[in-house]
Amino acid sequence: MGIAIERTSAPKPKPKSTEYGFGRFFSDHMYMVDYSAADGWHSPRIVPYQPLTLDPGAAVLHYGQAIFEGLKAFRGVDGKIRLFRPEMNWKRLTASADRLCMKAPDLPTYMEGLQQLVTTEREWVPTKEGTALYLRPTLIGTEAFLGVRPAEKYLYYVIASPVGAYYGDSLDSVKIWIEREYSRAAPGGIGAAKAGGNYASSLKAALEAKKRGYAQVLWTDAGQHKFVEEVGTMNVFFLIGDRVITPALSGTILPGVMRDSVIEVLRSWNLQVEERSVPLAEILEAHKNGELKEVFGTGTAAQVSPVSELGTEEQVYKIGSGGVGPLSDRLYTYFMELNYGRTKDTMGWLHEIC
Ligand SMILES: Cc1ncc(COP(=O)(O)O)c(C=O)c1O
Repeated sequence: MGIAIERTSAPKPKPKSTEYGFGRFFSDHMYMVDYSAADGWHSPRIVPYQPLTLDPGAAVLHYGQAIFEGLKAFRGVDGKIRLFRPEMNWKRLTASADRLCMKAPDLPTYMEGLQQLVTTEREWVPTKEGTALYLRPTLIGTEAFLGVRPAEKYLYYVIASPVGAYYGDSLDSVKIWIEREYSRAAPGGIGAAKAGGNYASSLKAALEAKKRGYAQVLWTDAGQHKFVEEVGTMNVFFLIGDRVITPALSGTILPGVMRDSVIEVLRSWNLQVEERSVPLAEILEAHKNGELKEVFGTGTAAQVSPVSELGTEEQVYKIGSGGVGPLSDRLYTYFMELNYGRTKDTMGWLHEIC
């Protein structure tokens, strides 16, 4: 499918990299493509960034038929722009779409959209180390119909936002609240899909954790709150002795692209990684015995996020020396070197755009 390109006549002033934050600014253009049961995917286009026109009866507005993705375009030290494992995000988009009874664009349509948008917006890809152009592919049910059934028309679009370095000059750690009242997702639900509804259900717990002075929550299972799931909007890893443990993909947690990548990197360093159910009691016991060396989250936004403290109503658990552990630091450095093109891409994870 040929992509029609309509350029903006009023480019926006670009913010300074110190102002970026996360998702505060949007670039000049967006990619859009429509789907209907009769015509399939059609009319791919790059247009000036603009509000959507939606029927007030659209499925997304009533029954939350909405999924999305998140990936970054990095500008390497050689000036080239590269995406990190974009096909993994497509696989997850496809799985999320299936769970919410929609169809994702096929791989060529998805890749051509990213290629054309990032090429059009190359001036928006920041240069400073730690910054990136964050891409947000989104798929929504647009058919206007109030019966509860899957929509037969969707819109897929991609917007882009320059994002700042998550940390200042060096990696920093966060405090996490162990959540045992609210749940993010239940077995049989949509926890493994990157669906807007999962984020709606997470807001209250995150807000209450913030009020207590914690950056995010450690989600536990919805049934008994006895097993660890993930941390805020990241997957979670524990270094106990010399073993790395992370919750298995049981259907209630998001299969993170960084989770998969970190596991592969750790195994390439000959570290033992266990993907299995992780009882909270085991983590607290390891802490008591002095064996819990590190806890860290992984995700596209922060890449690697060391945890310095886990908190509950009864107790505060300081992790390691209460700062950034050596394994988290080594992983963070690995991904910085890779994404900014300072080391060879031996895994074949980077996709060059231009
Ligand atoms: C709930 C949740 N878990 C885990 C992740 C990490 O996924 P990824 O590594 O693909 O960014 C994210 C972020 O996308 C998330 O929102």
